[in-house]
Amino acid sequence: MRRFDGYSVLITGAGRGIGEATALRLATEGARVLVTDLDGERAGQAAARIRESAPVRDSGGTAEALACDVADRTAVDAAVAHAVHRFGGLDVLVNSAHRCLPDPPRFETYRDEDWAGDLDVTLGGAFRCARAALPHLAAADGRGAIVSVGSVNGEQDFGNHAYSAAKAGLASLTRTLAGEAAARGVRVNLVAPGTVDTPNWADRPDSLKRAAAVYPLGRVGRPDDIAAAVAFLASSDAAWITGVTLPVDGGILTSNAALRDALRGGGPERFAFSR
Ligand SMILES: NC(=O)c1ccc[n+]([C@@H]2O[C@H](COP(=O)([O-])OP(=O)(O)OC[C@H]3O[C@@H](n4cnc5c(N)ncnc54)[C@H](O)[C@@H]3O)[C@@H](O)[C@H]2O)c1
Repeated sequence: MRRFDGYSVLITGAGRGIGEATALRLATEGARVLVTDLDGERAGQAAARIRESAPVRDSGGTAEALACDVADRTAVDAAVAHAVHRFGGLDVLVNSAHRCLPDPPRFETYRDEDWAGDLDVTLGGAFRCARAALPHLAAADGRGAIVSVGSVNGEQDFGNHAYSAAKAGLASLTRTLAGEAAARGVRVNLVAPGTVDTPNWADRPDSLKRAAAVYPLGRVGRPDDIAAAVAFLASSDAAWITGVTLPVDGGILTSNAALRDALRGGGPERFAFSR
């Protein structure tokens, strides 16, 4: 028996990166996954890769694709209805879509539309999807779960005001919705990744290399690291967990190496483990 046998799942922003890795992970464990993305062609290609992967073929899981812009209520409602129609219900919603300016401006030169755009996709998108999905998740006999993909940016300052505010808002929405949805048998949780090597960073490989050196566990994340945590929170293994933010971050939130080394009076290299 696989953890997601017979489950119906909808994932946003799943055409690549963490969303695709999560879709693959859940399908490998038996789920029927609706892979949605703003870019419908990208969603189609990801769903095909998932269907063709040997572990998914063995598991009985599957993937279908649909274009869906999470900023568009009509598209979101249609995507949820599509999953329910195709799979006979909805057990799990994973909110992975986001918008983030790659080069955020200096604070005083922010344009209103950039601020609003990041919030509307990253936080508003998760809100719209949860609103559409909730009645169906509540009808899922206690299996209903929402897992959103937040960020360490929602917890601490790593730059990028609008994206960080959106991710902090997502942590708050997770808590407030968890309280209300619990009475309907639906759990709501958040995974907060640190830096993860996805196509989002493809044009900035040096940033990833520099970031790896800062992470206590000595590397940046892989999409699978996040997919595994999302799968745990979506599954019955987490049946008594709701409203939490789970950092999956190589230890970055728990460690302040600069302060530790300053207090010790030595340079970072003096106490660092050699790798
Ligand atoms: N990669 C990282 O370093 C990192 C770190 C922390 C958190 N995250 C979070 O993980 C999630 C996935 O990140 P990723 O790096 O895999 O991203 P990515 O850029 O590789 O993929 C994001 C996908 O979302 C889609 N998308 C964009 N706007 C959309 C919209 N309006 N509606 C639907 N889909 C849309 C894109 O087409 C793309 O396929 C995001 O929520 C992101 O904030 C990523």
